[in-house]
Amino acid sequence: MTAKPVVLIPRKLAPAVLERANATYDVIVNEDDHVFSREELIAACQNVDAVLPCHSEHFSADVIQALPARLKIIANHSVGVDHVDLTAAKARGIVVTNTPDVLSDATAEIAILCMLGAARRGSEGDRMVRDGRWNFWSPAFMVGRQVTGRRFGVVGMGRVGQVTAERARGFGMEIHYHNRTRLTAEQEKGAIFHESLESLLAVSDVLSLHCPTTPDTIGIINERTLAMLPERAILVNTARGALVDEAALVQALKSGQLFAAGLDVFRTEPGGNPELSVLDNVFMLPHIGSATFETRDAMGFRALDNLDAFFGGSTPLDRLV
Ligand code: DGY
Repeated sequence: MTAKPVVLIPRKLAPAVLERANATYDVIVNEDDHVFSREELIAACQNVDAVLPCHSEHFSADVIQALPARLKIIANHSVGVDHVDLTAAKARGIVVTNTPDVLSDATAEIAILCMLGAARRGSEGDRMVRDGRWNFWSPAFMVGRQVTGRRFGVVGMGRVGQVTAERARGFGMEIHYHNRTRLTAEQEKGAIFHESLESLLAVSDVLSLHCPTTPDTIGIINERTLAMLPERAILVNTARGALVDEAALVQALKSGQLFAAGLDVFRTEPGGNPELSVLDNVFMLPHIGSATFETRDAMGFRALDNLDAFFGGSTPLDRLV
């Protein structure tokens, strides 16, 4: 009998996923679920054929350099792969895969929660009731912005962007988007395409970010671009914190130029940004876009499908390099 491939799973995955992984592979799990330091990650990878990491494991160029020759595939349990240096992996001949599609519904739900939480002052109201400070009501009390009938701007109309747009359409919102390439009429479903980001910003009452982090998109939401949004617009970010210049966002929220922001992702994770945390007009969550029982299973299974294809001698469905 040939030995099973050895797979490192650096975080605690859903029970059904671990069960399936154990049935096929010789699995090493980081039982206490702490985030490996760079050194721990390198050490843990030394005697394995594959690794199945989350976005919390950073495979920078120097970490990839330090991987053993036997490690042939990084099968990510995430759609975003900004934590992996794809160029370095390709140079080492290491296959990298991700888990697209399966988290689109869950992430779209969180984007809508962020939009509504920001527009209707969700955090502020929740804290007021819990803290025992709700001792007043008047027609002028806790008034927010209604999203129904407003314009919803999507930056990055990939799978998550399209599902989120579909949900926003359910609120009677008019959908606008900016994407590298225009979608087909069937995919657009009436959404209005903007060739430039600037043109999209000018019409977006709610701007929702769904693009990957690349050298071109890091900091695309900054002082200049925030100033292009309609007055009292709402920013939603469920993609990656690096897309936003948080100092500029704090200023726009403090000055009232932006009505509010709904954020599931931050430049510093875990932890977030203390300057954003003190603002009442920010609704925030701890990077839980894909955190549903159903989606965690589906992400794990998709990552395992990619591993199975690789070790079975075929090209994984979600191969990136
Ligand atoms: C993703 O899949 O990219 C999510 O952000 C969770 O890691």
